Amino acid sequence: MSDLGLSLRRPRPEDAAAIWRLLPAIGGLERNTAYAYLLLCSHFADTSIVAERGGEVVGFVAGYRPPTQPDAVFVWQVGVAPSARGEGLGGRMLDGVLAMPGCRDVRYLTATVSPDNEASLALFRAFARRRQVPCEEGPGFPAPLFPEPHPDENLIRIGPLAAPSRKESHADHR
Ligand SMILES: CC(C)(COP(=O)(O)OP(=O)(O)OC[C@H]1O[C@@H](n2cnc3c(N)ncnc32)[C@H](O)[C@@H]1OP(=O)(O)O)[C@@H](O)C(=O)NCCC(=O)NCCS
Repeated sequence: MSDLGLSLRRPRPEDAAAIWRLLPAIGGLERNTAYAYLLLCSHFADTSIVAERGGEVVGFVAGYRPPTQPDAVFVWQVGVAPSARGEGLGGRMLDGVLAMPGCRDVRYLTATVSPDNEASLALFRAFARRRQVPCEEGPGFPAPLFPEPHPDENLIRIGPLAAPSRKESHADHR
């Protein structure tokens, strides 16, 4: 998938270091270990995506299928470089993840969002609006669960999502 110099594709282990380096510039996202992004770019590559422009990683979605919720994909992190924001890239990456073979039978997109993260809330609400499905918000991981000061992480649950069209189900960002 490519336009305006942007291409979206399945992550490769070689992308992990680039994602890890990009995180401070993205801001608002916890920077996990480089090893965690290696897991993302290998074990969870079928439910994650990277966006590149000019050979540089400018965005990513880290997603996985929670074993306890087999009909869902959980979006653990979504980030867009400041230089690529406001162009619809965040929304396109969510669409891209849902179109991947690893999400073929997904009915719900779930995520947690801090109540003060307006951009993130707007991104998920816009995704639900485009798909014309409810976006429910409820308790997720409340602040006291964290060992250090941390805002509440409220749960977002979007769906039920329609089964992919024949065309979408053949999308394959490899
Ligand atoms: C959240 C983020 C990924 C959005 O990326 P983006 O590519 O700019 O988003 P899009 O252009 O696809 O916009 C999606 C929707 O969000 C809205 N939006 C984007 N940034 C916004 C902001 N700062 N404030 C309010 N709304 C915003 C857009 O208007 C659009 O809604 P619309 O379709 O109703 O117009 C990006 O701001 C980011 O990386 N933030 C820091 C990391 C983060 O907080 N990630 C989320 C938590 S996991």
